Amino acid sequence: MRASLSKFRALLLLGVLTLILSACGRENLTALVPKGYGAETSMKLILLTTIVMTFVFVVVVIALVFVVIKFRKKKGDPVINPVQVEGNKTLEAIWTIIPIILVVIMAVPTVVATFQLADTSNQEDYINIDVTGHQYWWHYEYVNEEFSTSQDMYVPVNTKVYINLITKDVLHSFWVPSISGKLDVNPENVNTLYIEAYEEGVYFGKCAELCGPSHSLMDFKVVVVSEEEYDQWVSDMQSFDSETLDLDPIAAEGKDLFEEKGCIGCHATDSQAYSPGAIPIGPDLTQFADRSRFAGVLHPTKENLESWLKDSEAIKPGNKMAEWYDALDDDAKMNDEEIEKIAEYLLQLSPSDVSAADMNQ
Ligand code: CUA
Repeated sequence: MRASLSKFRALLLLGVLTLILSACGRENLTALVPKGYGAETSMKLILLTTIVMTFVFVVVVIALVFVVIKFRKKKGDPVINPVQVEGNKTLEAIWTIIPIILVVIMAVPTVVATFQLADTSNQEDYINIDVTGHQYWWHYEYVNEEFSTSQDMYVPVNTKVYINLITKDVLHSFWVPSISGKLDVNPENVNTLYIEAYEEGVYFGKCAELCGPSHSLMDFKVVVVSEEEYDQWVSDMQSFDSETLDLDPIAAEGKDLFEEKGCIGCHATDSQAYSPGAIPIGPDLTQFADRSRFAGVLHPTKENLESWLKDSEAIKPGNKMAEWYDALDDDAKMNDEEIEKIAEYLLQLSPSDVSAADMNQ
């Protein structure tokens, strides 16, 4: 009975451990399944540290158990005062030197990797994206390609891409767990890191600095595509012109409303008016219909977009649009019919066949 009970306990423990250790998170949102240079480097350091720590743990446990069993007081043993060994120089030197060696084993690769990841010496030879963090979205300016977009960042596979980070408001932190390490986004100085993704796919990015009520919704995506697809996407983005779209009547009315209601004052819808360094007040909507998500977590469907436009505060508390919209006079606000038309229009903003919305994510 006892034996079967302890077997049951062992099985239970094994089951729980399997569940915990088998990466129940998403494959495109975990640093434990690295798909890029920075994440791979972090993973190697995590493994190294874990091995060193496990070694220390095992040695200490073995020594402890050995001592407890070997030197325990047996029945009939006299009560004695054990030999005192304080001041033993050899022993003290050994247990000072061993930890120093272990710390050096962990520190040297960590410092080397930190400097490698921060190396910007040949930055000009690669793609550069100026990234601006906002409460609660991300803006990307493709510096040499001369266009900008928001939220979904397209990059080619197996290529270095330099990310230059700054914030328009409070501190944020840029993190794509599967691809890169984490880097603070400050208001006054540009922090640069580079990413290099090894596999095509849509990777989830997170703001990793508590930045307000919708911090947890400040998600973004890094969309990794082949070199040809990337070139195609860049050219599609550069040439897309929302003025020349062939819209059905409802979407065309939506486009007019988008201008009349003032949406266009904060949201760009194509790259035609691009000027370097000009960052829109709200997310760039040029590729809205191609987006993986909008408002951080919603799929770009008509239904989601209508609920967003009706009450964005309920979905993403503290967003700037809700604050602005609430302050409008009632007759300046949108009714349901107008919201539907604007939604129809935004869902026509699809510059490219290379689209995160079509990818497995
Ligand atoms: Cu931005 Cu948290």
